[in-house]
Amino acid sequence: MEQAALSSLAAATNSEELEAWHQDYLGRKGKVTVFMRSIGSLPAEERPQAGQAGNQLRLLLEERHTARQTEIREVELARALVEETIDVTLPGRRPWTGGLHPITLTLRRMYAIFAEMGFQVYRSREVESDLYNFELLNMPPEHPARDMWDTFYVSDSVVLRTHTSPGQMRAMRDYCPEPVRVIVPGKCYRYEQVTARSEFMFHQVEGLAIGTDITLADLKGVMATFARRMFGPERQMRFRASYFPFTEPSVEVDMDCIICGGEGCRVCKHTGWVEIAGAGMVHPTVLRNGGYDPEQFSGFAFGMGPERIAMILNDVDDIRYFYGNDLRFLRQFGNL
Ligand code: DAH
Repeated sequence: MEQAALSSLAAATNSEELEAWHQDYLGRKGKVTVFMRSIGSLPAEERPQAGQAGNQLRLLLEERHTARQTEIREVELARALVEETIDVTLPGRRPWTGGLHPITLTLRRMYAIFAEMGFQVYRSREVESDLYNFELLNMPPEHPARDMWDTFYVSDSVVLRTHTSPGQMRAMRDYCPEPVRVIVPGKCYRYEQVTARSEFMFHQVEGLAIGTDITLADLKGVMATFARRMFGPERQMRFRASYFPFTEPSVEVDMDCIICGGEGCRVCKHTGWVEIAGAGMVHPTVLRNGGYDPEQFSGFAFGMGPERIAMILNDVDDIRYFYGNDLRFLRQFGNL
């Protein structure tokens, strides 16, 4: 039995075979155990010798089993280390954490610049009444100037605001009779053909300053300071006479093109100038509608397009990229 056990132990090459061998010889019904139990039925004089031989055999087999087990474990471990190896030098995959939209980033820069000049952010509603979007801004029903804005009507008297200018009226009525210095950022909507230059939804940043000594020179200073903070200290400004129903006089604000410095290029359409705002002195009727006496108070207002500003800053030539939700575009801007 000893010879048979040792040679079949040598033939066991893995843990399962080794375990089976152990059962076969040393388990509860194993050959050695069965032999030991059979000793009681031997003649009395043979029992001590048989018992001693059985015990020795069991000790020997346990000892050899332990030795073989150590060998097999070492072999199996060595194989596992090779086969189950993990290459810990592979670079990890960085989780995408999301980021700020380029327009959000542009708006935040604008807030910071206007904050330095004392303008607070004032929020106003996107769904507006005809009264605030047009009428109180000096455009009675049927006024031809309403054609300047292609309007989404929610009902006869409710619109999606076509500009942030109604925020001026809400701010005035909130602050009156105190002076006002606010910017009103937010979304605007126009019932327009979507093209590379215009979206049906876009943002504006409205500005409004009301006080007792405010002149067009203040407006010019604020516009120039904004342009130089946003686009560089060498920016030159140009103010062109224009028309808006809610300002008198009205101007359009241009700065020299940051791409070509005024030489003429694609961005400035070869004029050397890019328009950054519509603006003017708040019309007396608008002041009065806001609760201010135009004999005592004056003010300036402006409206800017952050998409326009983001396009100029980042050399983006199609406004539709901003709302196309293409991550290849969006990921090029600030990650958090
Ligand atoms: N609301 C005008 C627009 O959407 C922009 C504008 C022009 C705003 C002159 C103003 C302003 O506050 O004074 O076209």
